[in-house]
Amino acid sequence: MSDPVIPVPPTAAKDTNCSASDYRDLYNHSLEKSERFWLDQADRLDWIKRPTVAGNWSYAPKVDIKWFEDGQLNACWNCVDRHAVATPDKTALIFEPDDPASDGRRFTYAQLKDEVARFANVMKTLGVARGDRVTIYMPMVPEAVFAMLACARIGAVHSVVFGGFSPHALRDRIEDCESDFLVTADIGKRGGKTVPLKQNVDAALSETPRVKSVLVVQVGDGSAAMTDGRDHWLHDVSAGVDNDCPCAPMEAEDPLFILYTSGSTGKPKGVLHTTGGYLLWTAMTFAYGFDHRDDDLFFCTADVGWITGHSYVAYGPLANGATQLIFEGVPNYPANDRFWQIVEKHGVTILYTAPTAIRALMADGDAPVKKHDRSSLRLLGTVGEPINPEAWRWYSDTVGEGRVPVVDTWWQTETGGIMLTTLPGAHDMKPGWAGLPMFGIEPLLVDNDGKPLEGAAEGNLCIRRSWPGQARTVYGNHARFEQTYFSTYEGLYFSGDGAKRDEHGYYRITGRVDDVLNVSGHRMGTAEIESALVLHPDVAEAAVVGFPHSVKGQGIYCYVTPNAGVDISEELEQTLRQHVRSEIGPVATPDHIHLTRALPKTRSGKIMRRILRKIAENETSSLGDTSTLADPEVVDALIAGRKGD
Ligand code: WT7
Repeated sequence: MSDPVIPVPPTAAKDTNCSASDYRDLYNHSLEKSERFWLDQADRLDWIKRPTVAGNWSYAPKVDIKWFEDGQLNACWNCVDRHAVATPDKTALIFEPDDPASDGRRFTYAQLKDEVARFANVMKTLGVARGDRVTIYMPMVPEAVFAMLACARIGAVHSVVFGGFSPHALRDRIEDCESDFLVTADIGKRGGKTVPLKQNVDAALSETPRVKSVLVVQVGDGSAAMTDGRDHWLHDVSAGVDNDCPCAPMEAEDPLFILYTSGSTGKPKGVLHTTGGYLLWTAMTFAYGFDHRDDDLFFCTADVGWITGHSYVAYGPLANGATQLIFEGVPNYPANDRFWQIVEKHGVTILYTAPTAIRALMADGDAPVKKHDRSSLRLLGTVGEPINPEAWRWYSDTVGEGRVPVVDTWWQTETGGIMLTTLPGAHDMKPGWAGLPMFGIEPLLVDNDGKPLEGAAEGNLCIRRSWPGQARTVYGNHARFEQTYFSTYEGLYFSGDGAKRDEHGYYRITGRVDDVLNVSGHRMGTAEIESALVLHPDVAEAAVVGFPHSVKGQGIYCYVTPNAGVDISEELEQTLRQHVRSEIGPVATPDHIHLTRALPKTRSGKIMRRILRKIAENETSSLGDTSTLADPEVVDALIAGRKGD
């Protein structure tokens, strides 16, 4: 526990909105006078009706979470209109296209308001009403953000599906949330390649009777096939639609969005966030977590298909009236200096990205970074997976020239926003350690029996009390919500992560303790990949585990038993890899398919995943107890046939 500590850079401490002593006072206040603290924080938002109560929640015997329940507000008003009134000419969005040679776009808050209001009116003409679920399957273009905000404006509930998901995955998500409306684009552009979004939509909709209207944003040449009566080009429907569209008054606990995420069992679940608490949480965590200043240019590299793109692209920055950059492309196109070229071109002050991108760029050395002026940067952030200290150091020293703070922010789809971090102007940094709890957050570590651990310790990471940004339910399945997060340790929210705590109260996330993988910062359930594999007619059984991967964090290792009579072949491996891609999407592409005639099982027939994990990790000298195996020879065969280096 003697990892090196890096002090707050003096420039970061100088103008901070929260010093170390501010943090201590405010953190204590947030726990001791929680109601007062949150009602004060609520002033960050414009309310149609101010709330008179903050938290009203219970984790047991039933899970029932409400925040600011008698308040009324509109999220779009708070992210757009109020700034269009106060700072109409301030830039809200800068769009950097995939191809640096094509034209970017820029929107002031006044222009953003017009775009979003017109978008909302278009949705209304298609029949979208308050409470309806609208699926958004879009590339990273400004219209993706307009669509989300337009839903919020009229009280519709968006469900954004990442553009890298397959037609099947899209269909499942449409059906699960009973969505009758879809917003998409003809194509997406990423790294010089074309993603056939509209084609994927057509394939998905050919398998479900749902979805009455599809709104299509033109990104490509406009040649996409359109189904009469169902599909509408945005530019056609929006012609003549005016930009006057009132913001619907919403109850604080009205749903704002659903976002699907993977768990250790079953299909992905639709995590539901509501309006008041979520918006306040993203607004507050953005302001403190990034020590936001008026003249910042914030660049979060996440796609709106993930929670990071919701909380720190669509909602948090805009709720603060910030200027942000959204990027259509990838870090290595047209070359591996693209991020730094963008930083230089636009004068980015805060960069928020994932460890996987940092590791990939680090592998290309310092030259691409040093080619560009990065003097505008004053803060670097990471999110999504544990960052190894070497990558942290490179980010800090090479990208940040050792002069700017690095924040390692731990949070989850279910937490809505940042939960653990160091504050840029307040806290010393420890590479590999996320840091301290955000205001109102009371983390604790428990052992496997649920016994709380004191002081420096390692255990399962739980959160004791509710916070405004917490998910409220799993859409259509509250029992699953209770079961997944609140039944493992009574009275606690269980994150699914393991963590260490040092003597200063800093937390270091050690990774998932359940059957969830984190591949390039993308969350994936091993069960989901297994279900996809066994759908293939040649597959009898499959077991999927993760293994350490130098760039992706974790890789996907699949053990597959083919049906009797099916040959074990290279060809079948390829087929199955392709099969998983088309069932779930390219994000779930297996690194290794290990075909085997048998899997290690206990005498009662349970697959011994612990052993499979060890083999995938190449830790075969520490397999542990194999005496309960029905057939120990299976293990030797698997070790001999291990895939990878
Ligand atoms: C899981 C949540 C947070 C938004 C993006 C991912 C892992 C997230 C960190 C971090 C170590 C991290 C955890 C968590 N994770 N941030 N800073 N250090 N691990 O959201 O898809 O819901 O995934 O990502 O394992 O449980 P998500």
